[in-house]
Amino acid sequence: MTSLLHIDSSVRAASNENPGHNSISKNIAIQFTEAWRKVHTTNQYIYRDVGMHPPEFINQNWIGAVFTPEERQTENQRVLLELSDKLIQEVAQADIIVISSPMYNYGMPAHLKAWFDQIIRINKTFDFDLSRGDFPLKPLFSGKTLVIITSSGEFGFEKGGIREEHGHLVPHLRTLSKYLGVDTIYEIAAEYQEFGDKRHTKSLNDAMERARKLGQELANKVGSPFRE
Ligand SMILES: Cc1cc2nc3c(=O)[nH]c(=O)nc-3n(C[C@H](O)[C@H](O)[C@H](O)COP(=O)(O)O)c2cc1C
Repeated sequence: MTSLLHIDSSVRAASNENPGHNSISKNIAIQFTEAWRKVHTTNQYIYRDVGMHPPEFINQNWIGAVFTPEERQTENQRVLLELSDKLIQEVAQADIIVISSPMYNYGMPAHLKAWFDQIIRINKTFDFDLSRGDFPLKPLFSGKTLVIITSSGEFGFEKGGIREEHGHLVPHLRTLSKYLGVDTIYEIAAEYQEFGDKRHTKSLNDAMERARKLGQELANKVGSPFRE
């Protein structure tokens, strides 16, 4: 059985009364997941829209609970960690993770960061050992594939692009992905939304097409760990 975890994070819905308000990142992600699921109809599919339903922000009590050994946790602390436990379980099960994200203020939405903050947790998704020297954190999961789907109003955030130094969305997702156990990453980006010109149309069409092809390609991968 193969498990696909799909995380959307735009605060906009995929479909609105005014289609001009439809989330671009969510609609590209739909192209990917539909193509993938056509091949893998019996597989497990978990969906979360953290843009519409953001996980709670962590707080001081949450950190206190995380650093309390399980056998000493109070009932309140266990309840406080329930959401985190559930989100981590969903990541643990996933073979492939699709994260769609708008660029907000040159990075990810706070909603998506809240999801990562609930998941990247000591002794659950990483362990910490000072005997490892300058790199004491070690991820505990491995072998997962991540598809990063982004939409931005401006353009040129890629390596060598005119706004490379302002592109904090994909680099941040790449850094955090290792704590999800990701070792293979694919990127799909639609740009130019704020320009609304031919460049945007092309960028969007290319991203949609690439998402469809990648969905099929990963689903059909010969000898892939995704195959049952
Ligand atoms: C709050 C907010 C902040 C934004 N910040 C940026 C930004 O820093 N850089 C950029 O290129 N576009 C920015 N945009 C434009 C969005 O990235 C663009 O509209 C994108 O298509 C949104 O994703 P969605 O269509 O999936 O909702 C911002 C939009 C909003 C609503």
